[in-house]
Amino acid sequence: MSLKLPIDVHAIKGFLAAHEGEALYHLAAEASAFGSSLEVGSYCGKSTLYLASACKLVDSVLFAVDHHRGSEEHQPGEEYHDPELFDEGVQLMDSFRTFRRNIRAAQLEEWVVPVVAPSAVAARCWNTPLGLVFIDGGHSLEAAMTDYRSWARHIVPGGYLAIHDIFPDPADGGQAPYDIYKLALASAQFELVEMVGTLGVLRRV
Ligand SMILES: C[S@@+](CC[C@H](N)C(=O)[O-])C[C@H]1O[C@@H](n2cnc3c(N)ncnc32)[C@H](O)[C@@H]1O
Repeated sequence: MSLKLPIDVHAIKGFLAAHEGEALYHLAAEASAFGSSLEVGSYCGKSTLYLASACKLVDSVLFAVDHHRGSEEHQPGEEYHDPELFDEGVQLMDSFRTFRRNIRAAQLEEWVVPVVAPSAVAARCWNTPLGLVFIDGGHSLEAAMTDYRSWARHIVPGGYLAIHDIFPDPADGGQAPYDIYKLALASAQFELVEMVGTLGVLRRV
């Protein structure tokens, strides 16, 4: 299966495999029957491109939450640091300019609401029911738990929770996303729909 996206997704820096992105596209389209979609962790807009393209198709809206200061692994000296995204003026990471440029190039601005804030701050006054929450923010246990606790409760019955970077074998990657995935299943509020690569897709029962 190959989707027709408004711009070449390979031109966008990011951390999502094409088959995972395509799964997100279909989820966002389906989830619109239940409510808006929200992602935690947009970075330069790769996952946003898939999700928002589906939102455009069904005239839904994607809330894209990211403080754009990078996760632990994006900081100077860390494995995934990208000097092109470093703002020398304030000595901080800043992926927002690139994110905005990409969403504009894709002509998706009408379907994306950027929420430039830490996930926990954005969630503090949140009151809107959601049809899909995609979690791909910070990968420390504290960050992943905060994202799960902040956002999963806003998913309406029938809606989806998608979690990226699930590695059941610790040799393959960090365990925090897998930990919140297990927590969601153990809560009995979510059931497993499918795994697509490292993307776990759960449905709110
Ligand atoms: C792995 S990247 C997201 C990749 C993106 N989904 C893609 O498709 O390329 C993680 C992002 O989460 C953001 N992030 C990390 N912790 C956060 C937090 N507590 N609140 C908001 N954003 C956060 C970082 O700024 C970074 O852009």
